[in-house]
Amino acid sequence: MLDTRISRRAALLGAGAIAAWAASPARAMLQSATRLPVPAFIDPLIAQMTVAEKAGQLSLMAAAWGGSAAPSLNPASRGPNFEGQLEEVRKMQLTGVFNGNGAEMARRMQTAAMTQSRLKIPLIFAADIIHGHRTIFPIPLGEAASFDLDMMERTARMASYEAAACGIDWTFAPMVDIARDQRWGRTMEGAGEDVLLGELIAAARVRGFQGKDLKANDAMLACAKHFAAYGAAEAGLDYNTVDISERTLREVYLPPFRVAFDAGAITTMASFNELSGVPATGNEWLLRTLLRDEWGFEGFVVSDYTGDEEMIAHGFAADARDATKLAFLAGVDMSMQSGFYRQHLPDLVEAGEVPMARLDESVRKVLATKALLGLFDDPFRRIDVKREKARSRTRPALALARESGRKSIVLLKNDGALLPLPKSGRKIAIIGPFAAGPHDLNGGWVVYGDNKLAVDLATGIKAAVADPALVSITPGSGIEEAIPGGIEAAVAAAQGADIVLLSIGEGERMSGEAQSRTEIVVPAPQQALAEAVAATGKPVVVVLRNGRALALEGAVAKAPAILVTWFLGSESGHAIADILFGDFGPSARLPCSFPRRPGQQPYHYDHKPTGRPNPSDDKLEPYKARWREIPNSALYPFGHGLTYGDIAYSELSAPATLGWNGEIGVSALVTNKGSRTAEEVVQLYIRDRTASVTRPVRELKAYRTVRLAPGASERVTFKLTREQLLFIGRENKPTVEPGTFDVWIAPSAEAPGVHARFELQAS
Ligand code: NOJ
Repeated sequence: MLDTRISRRAALLGAGAIAAWAASPARAMLQSATRLPVPAFIDPLIAQMTVAEKAGQLSLMAAAWGGSAAPSLNPASRGPNFEGQLEEVRKMQLTGVFNGNGAEMARRMQTAAMTQSRLKIPLIFAADIIHGHRTIFPIPLGEAASFDLDMMERTARMASYEAAACGIDWTFAPMVDIARDQRWGRTMEGAGEDVLLGELIAAARVRGFQGKDLKANDAMLACAKHFAAYGAAEAGLDYNTVDISERTLREVYLPPFRVAFDAGAITTMASFNELSGVPATGNEWLLRTLLRDEWGFEGFVVSDYTGDEEMIAHGFAADARDATKLAFLAGVDMSMQSGFYRQHLPDLVEAGEVPMARLDESVRKVLATKALLGLFDDPFRRIDVKREKARSRTRPALALARESGRKSIVLLKNDGALLPLPKSGRKIAIIGPFAAGPHDLNGGWVVYGDNKLAVDLATGIKAAVADPALVSITPGSGIEEAIPGGIEAAVAAAQGADIVLLSIGEGERMSGEAQSRTEIVVPAPQQALAEAVAATGKPVVVVLRNGRALALEGAVAKAPAILVTWFLGSESGHAIADILFGDFGPSARLPCSFPRRPGQQPYHYDHKPTGRPNPSDDKLEPYKARWREIPNSALYPFGHGLTYGDIAYSELSAPATLGWNGEIGVSALVTNKGSRTAEEVVQLYIRDRTASVTRPVRELKAYRTVRLAPGASERVTFKLTREQLLFIGRENKPTVEPGTFDVWIAPSAEAPGVHARFELQAS
């Protein structure tokens, strides 16, 4: 052991290893860049613009068209009515609007820009198209549970196909913030707690939104947000302070952005939070030194909604003029919603406090992006009222909503193979606030979808069973308040049934922006309902609705079967029925660990070991790092999810050594001992045993989904090279050190699976 430590230290300090690292492909990763071509006509156009018109190109406002969706998702919006906004377009005071309403609005605004403004620069239309437009797909955290990158690319593609038809050029998605604290309500909008999964999903979503050709009338520009570390808010409180090391920033929070940019995203949104003392919106190190100089990012940065203005409340900017100067000089090219840039940039340029060259640089990027979208060739290319209707909620889109819905459902528990259920001969009581009704189906972050058009659980179940008359529906409780007589009615319904589907959890407004919770549990009245229903002794299947991981307790945790169904969108009820009755087997995995208690937050499986690790989860040893009340581990960890098969892992095969420039195959035999076909997400984890910077107890490095018929086995092989062993070293740069590594192939981040060790050799 000591020898290993010495050799690793020597390797860290040794010139040989550093030289090898400098020449490695991983080093080259640092230099890749996102290209934004600037057509020849752009600079002559900029030369004709007044300073006020330039500031207008850097000002984005919420749409003022009647019924605008912007205020429902953001603080009340100020500004003129639609006529006033058209006047701003004529005066070139707007680069575009966001969260507007449809092709007709876009047509009127673009017509004003192209016929009545001085330089006829096309507007850009943006919107929060987060998980679908009119067809709503599962919330992003739910989709992440599918671990199915192809599917996530297809849902993003379909969202673009629908949204672009009504004039939307640019989506404020994907949110690529890693979220390790489930109290943070925006965890629902991301891909969960793991960096690798976050990277892969970021790239898939960018590819899906943007398609192959950004000029196409079914492509939208992606915006990787929120730059950076928005998910690391203290205590999981939205907008709260972030104070993390540069190493953690580079190792955990930045990688999905990097991958999103490499996949073609050329816009990013500055986050609301401060980052170790400096608000991201005014953070020159973040937005220039790192993003532009180090990463070579050529695209543009938009503020979040009044993010520049909020630097006054942060205590970082003295007033509006100061906030404008700080945000702009730090590297925020475009201001969203405060109006500060158009109010103060002209004066700041006049006073010599903002160089004209910097203003031109930002305008150039914005205009080049509009050109990339094809807006200069045809400003109306995405605006077509007929196409808007024709592409809305098409049959393929709804089929995809159902497919993505069922692929996002995680089976946490299935004692005694209670699921799948037979379709006939059973009286089913659906009990709970989400049993029926056009509410809480789509989830947070839906601007244009309508819960009334989504399929609720009762409809899905009734459509699937042989005799819908055998299905009863009883709310039993409100979401956060009891219903008088609700529990009594629910108990009676349970007693009259053979099986209970307990449809409980969070309402769709309990997660999303500004929806932080301290107690990440099933709300108390619903928990009381669950206890009463369980006391009837009838078998209970918990059908959880949730926008984050929850700490399940009491009768909910003890129920024989638990399905995590998130918010599945347009086809919710059908998708859940597909899984409940076994037309399709569950295949999804948790992208975020379900803790035992809320007090474990922030929780992530890839935590560090500490100097006094508790040797076993079962009991508290003296002076060890363990909670008094509960084991440290999750109740259901990242990666967990059952199938209707019975999967066993055996026979790990791994070479004892990996050469410095070599590649090894690590494999395991995965067998379905059950009687139903299963889709198993086979996961590969590593642990770097000793390093010059402490390393997590496990890290996901690869996964693969295999389909196994009853009785079938497959040897699943993963390739490993030195690059997958990289970490952010002492100098805050990627590094890798020779030495011993654990490797597991396992069904979840905390399952034993099968294990071996190998040595990474120095040469
Ligand atoms: C604030 C949110 O943080 C951001 O993600 C969103 O895109 C904007 N509002 C615009 O709605």
